[in-house]
Amino acid sequence: MPRATTFGLRATDYDRLRPGPHPEALERVLPADAGRVVDLAAGTGLVTRAVLARPTPPAVVIAVEPDARMLGLVSGAVAVRGTAEHLPLRDGSVDAVVASSAWHWFDAEAATAEIARVLRPGGTLGLLWSRADPTVDWVAEVRGIGRAAADGSAQLSRRGFAFSLPDGHGFVDDTPDAVHVGWTRAMTRDEVAGMVCTYSGVLELDDAAQREVFRVARGRLDDLVEGPDPIDVPFETVARRWTHR
Ligand SMILES: C[S@@+](CC[C@H](N)C(=O)[O-])C[C@H]1O[C@@H](n2cnc3c(N)ncnc32)[C@H](O)[C@@H]1O
Repeated sequence: MPRATTFGLRATDYDRLRPGPHPEALERVLPADAGRVVDLAAGTGLVTRAVLARPTPPAVVIAVEPDARMLGLVSGAVAVRGTAEHLPLRDGSVDAVVASSAWHWFDAEAATAEIARVLRPGGTLGLLWSRADPTVDWVAEVRGIGRAAADGSAQLSRRGFAFSLPDGHGFVDDTPDAVHVGWTRAMTRDEVAGMVCTYSGVLELDDAAQREVFRVARGRLDDLVEGPDPIDVPFETVARRWTHR
């Protein structure tokens, strides 16, 4: 099974445990007057929900996602099967595309060309990444338990998101300095250990190995984080925006 399609194995856990984007970061990369908005690689609709929760929601939100098990949890939007490389949308038909925690699954060249095709002139592309903050030691250690089981490496990237779009598709960079928004979310230790198990590397393991990742992560959380449940989990959303000329 390709890694990109593992999330649907535990779509409900994904939806319950993974973070949506911080609203402030979303506002920075999605123009307030965007009327037709695509949530690309929508997953279970975490971003779709945040877009629909804006003070003035867009007239139309289209959630595009290849995995029917994920798409089945999207509500309140037009939900369509599709990929970043083959968008089921007309030329110049949308005001904005947003994609969260997904760019690394795309063929960057093909996806950039497709997004350029469906955006109207002046339309925007917003890319977001939301995750538990790996610069906090206990977060890095607990996430590293999943990584070590999946890839044999406990190394978790703390590099941030140095990132550029492929050239030649008419995109102008609006945010050379990425937008960073940090926040905390109260979660039980079981939820944090469960979240570790929603990453693709862990989802590829057999059930017994996944249970072991949960058990070890859950145990380390008792050692690493003081105080009763729920605990404050630090998160960050990193966001970038481009305008299509
Ligand atoms: C980590 S999840 C992110 C889901 C959602 N955007 C979020 O922030 O929770 C990655 C999603 O990308 C989807 N995906 C993988 N390859 C894709 C592709 N080529 N085009 C569009 N979506 C893709 C997966 O099915 C999965 O739902």
